[in-house]
Amino acid sequence: MDAHDTEVMPSTLIAPEANGDGHVASVHNLYKSFGSFQVMNGLSLDFKPRAITTILGPSGTGKSVLLKHMVGLLEPDSGTVNVFGQDIWGIAERERAQLRKRFGVLFQDGALFGSMNVYDNVAFPLRKHTDKSESEIREIVTYRLKEVGLEAAEKKAPNEISGGMKKRAGFARALVMNPEIVLFDEPDSGLDPVRTSLLNDVILKIHEEDRGTYVVVTHDIRTAKKVSDYVGLIWQGRVVYYGPAEEAFSSSDPFVRQFLAGDSVGPLGMD
Ligand SMILES: Nc1ncnc2c1ncn2[C@@H]1O[C@H](COP(=O)(O)OP(=O)(O)OP(=O)(O)O)[C@@H](O)[C@H]1O
Ligand SMILES: [Mg+2]
Repeated sequence: MDAHDTEVMPSTLIAPEANGDGHVASVHNLYKSFGSFQVMNGLSLDFKPRAITTILGPSGTGKSVLLKHMVGLLEPDSGTVNVFGQDIWGIAERERAQLRKRFGVLFQDGALFGSMNVYDNVAFPLRKHTDKSESEIREIVTYRLKEVGLEAAEKKAPNEISGGMKKRAGFARALVMNPEIVLFDEPDSGLDPVRTSLLNDVILKIHEEDRGTYVVVTHDIRTAKKVSDYVGLIWQGRVVYYGPAEEAFSSSDPFVRQFLAGDSVGPLGMD
């Protein structure tokens, strides 16, 4: 058990080791193709520690693929992924697996196990990756379920709860290991504007308490406006814009203007 596993309450998050340049996560010159299809095209991005960075970009442009590289599920053809000061593909699989435990990931569809109730879904990472007792697990799971407003739903199966509740359950599960980096793949997809707004409130509230490094992939401009400290716009496997949120939303950059306006005319094309 490492020091991180002994943490119980999230308010005592360990300060993440930063890279030499002060970042806890950075991707440099990432290239990746699937067959002849080039998805990552020299993408570089330094994620500011303890901030919420929103990743925007058209469908199929490589946002989910980027997150999979960051968490070590996909290996780059070339380029580097650095987290907590380590090149994650320059270390052994065993060490990479240890690093993965310091990530929380909220997948695009919540990715709950259909055969387990909400409680067991949220408890799953703790049972799998730690040797905590069931009473310690109950303390953490209850805390996290309460935080996302799901304490009354713990016995429900995923097919008995709404889309918004599934996302919140996925979020609670992503948080139980007290991750220093949390990756959200479209936390708002499939939610109505009110549920999106409520989920964004939960994200902001928990970020305020835990101060993790959050990366939020979204198509929803309102989400981006509400939660972002920094905004990156990705197109064709490359970062075409990156900046602090207040600059991004008033930027005259043609990529940003077109994406924010949802305009068909501009530098962002279909391919
Ligand atoms: N494992 C894989 N094998 C082959 N192609 C893949 C694989 N994963 C992703 N792709 C392709 O890479 C491209 C980028 O996919 P990605 O899922 O990153 O898009 P995205 O930006 O997340 O899109 P969306 O906004 O629709 O979720 C797509 O064309 C996709 O089909
Ligand atoms: Mg995606």
